[in-house]
Amino acid sequence: MTPATPIRSIAPDDPDAPALIEAAAMLRAGGLVAFPTETVYGLGADATNPEAVARIFLAKGRPSTNPLIVHADGPDLARRCVSVWPEAAETLARHFWPGPLTLVLPRSPLIPDIVTGGRDTVGVRVPDVGVARALIERVGRPLAAPSANRSNRISPTRAEHVSRDLDGRIDLILDAGPTAVGLESTVLDLTSKPPRILRPGPIDADQLAAVLGVPVLSSVSSESLPLADRAAASPGLMAIHYAPRTPAIRLEPGSPPPAIPAETSVALIVFGPLAPELGSLRPSLRIDLPDPARASRTLYDSLHCCDASGASLIIVRMPPDHPSWAAVRDRLQRATTVPEPPLPARPLT
Ligand code: TXA
Ligand code: MG
Repeated sequence: MTPATPIRSIAPDDPDAPALIEAAAMLRAGGLVAFPTETVYGLGADATNPEAVARIFLAKGRPSTNPLIVHADGPDLARRCVSVWPEAAETLARHFWPGPLTLVLPRSPLIPDIVTGGRDTVGVRVPDVGVARALIERVGRPLAAPSANRSNRISPTRAEHVSRDLDGRIDLILDAGPTAVGLESTVLDLTSKPPRILRPGPIDADQLAAVLGVPVLSSVSSESLPLADRAAASPGLMAIHYAPRTPAIRLEPGSPPPAIPAETSVALIVFGPLAPELGSLRPSLRIDLPDPARASRTLYDSLHCCDASGASLIIVRMPPDHPSWAAVRDRLQRATTVPEPPLPARPLT
C-alpha cells in the first residue's frame, strides 16, 4: 500500500536537498515533519507556533502535560529559547553540542506554554545531524520535536518505524537512514543545584561531572526511586513508556524464566552470553546485544524486530545493574513488565 505520508530520502549532510526545502516550507506553514537526529527520529513543528505544536500532541496522542524538547541549530538560537544562560550551560554546550544532551532551563517568552506543558522551564538541545540543523536554519525558528512515535510506543530509529506509527497523521518524513546513537538524549536539569539528570541517556553523570567540575545527581533516574516520583520531575518518565506491542517481560540476572506454554513463540533479547538458566528456552528469535554502545544503538530496532517477528512473547534478560548500562536498563524497565509470580498452590479442602 502506498503510504499516505510521503517519505523523502535525504543525505544526512546535504543542506540544499530539495526535500529539505519542501520540509522547511511545510514547517513554516505550521505542518508536522519527522526528521532524523543522532538519537531517534523527531516529530518537528515550529516551536513558536502554538497551533502547530498542538498538532504534535494530537498526532502522537500525547498528554498535554508532557513537555517537548526544543531543537536549535546552534547555541545562539538555543539561548533565545531560555531566559537564563548560566556558566554551566555554556560549558556543557561547548563540550557536548551538537549532541545527545538536553538542558532544562527557565524558558523565554519565545516559547509558548503548550511546548512546556505550562512549566516555566524548557528543554533545549542541538542535534548532531547536519540536515536536522540545516532544516532548523531554513525554518529560521526552533523546532519542538518529541520522538516520532505514538505516545507510549517504541521510539523510531528508522524512517519506516515512523511511518508504521504515524502514517497519515503527519505531513512528511525525511529519511536519512538508521540513527547513529539510537537512544534518546540525556535530559539534565540545570535549574536545580547540583544539576540533576531527569532522563539517563548516552551522556552519563560521570561525563557531565567531569566537564562541569561539580557533582551531577542521577537520583531522579535511580532505579531505587518509585517511578511515580521520577514522573513528577519529568513527565516523560511515566511507568509504561517505549513499550512494544507484543507482551514483554524482563528477567534480572539469575532469575529463571517463568513456565511458558509450549505453543508460545518467544523472542529473546540477551546482553552477553546466554545464561545457563535460560538454556531451556527455545526462542524463535534471539537477539544478542553484547555491549552498552551496540545495545543503545540497536535496542529500539531490536524491539521493533521482535514486534514484526510474530512472536507472542518477548523475554528480555536484563543487563547488569552497572552505570554503563543505566540508560539501556532505564528504557527496558519501561518497555517490559516483571513476570507474575506463580500462583501459590491452593490447599485441597
Ligand atoms: O533524543 C531526544 O531527546 C529525542 C530527539 C527527537 O531529540 N527527543 C525526545 O523527546 O526524546 P520526547 O518528547 O520523546 O522526550 C522528552 C523528554 C520527556 O521525558 C520530557 O518529560 C522531558 O524530556 N522534558 C522535556 N522538557 C522538560 C522540562 N521542561 N522539564 C522536565 N522534563 C522535560
Ligand atoms: Mg519519546
